[in-house]
Amino acid sequence: ENDWRLKLHPEIPKGSKPVLVVVLDGWGEAPDGPYNAISQANTPCMDSLKHGAPGRWMLLKAHGTAVGLPSDADMGNSEVGHNAMGSGQVIDQGANLVDHALKDGSIFSGEGWKYTEPAFAEHTLHFIGLVSDGGVHSRYDQLIGCIRGACKRGAKRIRVHVLTDGRDVEDGTSQLYVTQLHRDLQALSAEGCDARIASGGGRMRVTMDRYESDWNIVKRGWEAHVLGEAPHKFTDPVDAIKQLRAPPGPGKMPISDQWLDPFVIVDGTGQPAGTIQDDDAVVIFNFRADRVVEISKAFEYKDFTAFDRKRWPKTRFVGMMQYDGELKLPAHYLVPPPFISRTTGEYLAHNGVRTYACSESQKIGHVTFFWNGNRSGYFNAELEKYEEIPSDTGIAFNQKPAMKAREICEAGKAALRSLKYDQVRLNFPNPDMVGHTGDLQATIEACTVVDQCVKELLDVVDEVGGRFLVTADHGNAEEMVQLNKKTGKVVMDSEGKPIPLTSHTLNPVPVAIGGPGLPASVHFRQDLTEPGLSSVGPTIINLLDFEAPPHMAPSLFPAHGMELPTGV
Ligand code: 3PG
Ligand code: CO
Repeated sequence: ENDWRLKLHPEIPKGSKPVLVVVLDGWGEAPDGPYNAISQANTPCMDSLKHGAPGRWMLLKAHGTAVGLPSDADMGNSEVGHNAMGSGQVIDQGANLVDHALKDGSIFSGEGWKYTEPAFAEHTLHFIGLVSDGGVHSRYDQLIGCIRGACKRGAKRIRVHVLTDGRDVEDGTSQLYVTQLHRDLQALSAEGCDARIASGGGRMRVTMDRYESDWNIVKRGWEAHVLGEAPHKFTDPVDAIKQLRAPPGPGKMPISDQWLDPFVIVDGTGQPAGTIQDDDAVVIFNFRADRVVEISKAFEYKDFTAFDRKRWPKTRFVGMMQYDGELKLPAHYLVPPPFISRTTGEYLAHNGVRTYACSESQKIGHVTFFWNGNRSGYFNAELEKYEEIPSDTGIAFNQKPAMKAREICEAGKAALRSLKYDQVRLNFPNPDMVGHTGDLQATIEACTVVDQCVKELLDVVDEVGGRFLVTADHGNAEEMVQLNKKTGKVVMDSEGKPIPLTSHTLNPVPVAIGGPGLPASVHFRQDLTEPGLSSVGPTIINLLDFEAPPHMAPSLFPAHGMELPTGV
């Protein structure tokens, strides 16, 4: 216990609790402009924080190496962002770890890989995952690296089940990725390794649900990948994408890559190209956990009731990583996941801090599971309460930009007023989830709603005499069209229309502090070079009156012993 004990902060006096922590998912900072949904939205509250008391608003790096990604060309995302904030540390993330394991070949000598090998000679090796270069959940070069490695090591029959993206990469590019994959597999087939695409669908409709928001998504994937059943059958995978994307009527937009229907590839006689059978090996090649936990359970759990599997093949099932260390899910995996320990959540629980965390289904795991270092469950059930507001299912969120923001806001206000919690942590998904649709108008609306919610929450912080920290996990809504990387100019399509940007961005995110419980003399330090999201965790620990442990990133407050701008 002693090991976990935090010292009281010497300069920030024991304050009036509670501390409100708000994560605005996908709220980045970029210059004002017609395609910046945040600057176009009505955001008096966030504006007042930005232009308010000096030293209480600043920008944090939320992408690339600051959050443990391979390079600064990698945009931020919620997993790495919440990991960094919640752990107060920069950890080498999945993308990096898989790169290393492929580079030094250790992926092929590990326990997980060896577990798949007995299937190579007589059975089929399946790969299921997101096919793109997004680098958020998976990467194409890693998929191909694994497939080539398998052929080299004697895999005779390989089947790939493709989930199309359009969310971490430009919409419409699934055609390119599937064409590339089809060609690469044909080349391998010519060398004697029978490799083909077997089934697939859009990531938002097939397989990649998260946090049990809608199991039907996983069921559709199971039927296509495992049973070979889907409403659409094609003999050619490239043709499949072309036809599934076709606009539903004259003057209508093409169906987005994210939302393609499930499909199965069949041979001339209508037989599926590759259902999943007993003794086959199955590799989920996504490294990020949230959207593959459910399909992993469907493959791995004997007692499984989320949907009727109809047939449950006994496969050699492995994940690219172990997706949930607490659940040991899956039991076998190719690359050991980032080991994230001694997080803010664990420290605070050891120090008696009572925490309430809330979001809607789409992001609840972000402020709990990711925040706590990819760990499910409570550190101390007596001190913590995690509340999930059920998300709407089956709709693209531009149809309802407010999502459940009002409900999250009310839950947060109630938690603050109850005085039962020292820390109230919320995530508002709207700028991100609506931003991912590429719908500018809807995203403007989403940001307006969220700003109003933040205002109401800060009013309650005032009322209860607390403190607050408002920040974001990565950019998205502030850049709704593609910009030329060199010139910064809007990229136009062949008809002269701006090309929507559905993915995250490389922009920094704001962080703001305040509240009547925070002495007027407390300000952010100005001496950190490139402060990043990992500094949020130790800053929250300070706001809760404690000194942060030394293994964490520097707090945004002056280090112990440094002078504050005016005496406290
Ligand atoms: C998703 O899974 O929705 C996107 O790939 C990433 O979004 P997030 O990192 O904001 O969750
Ligand atoms: Co996102």
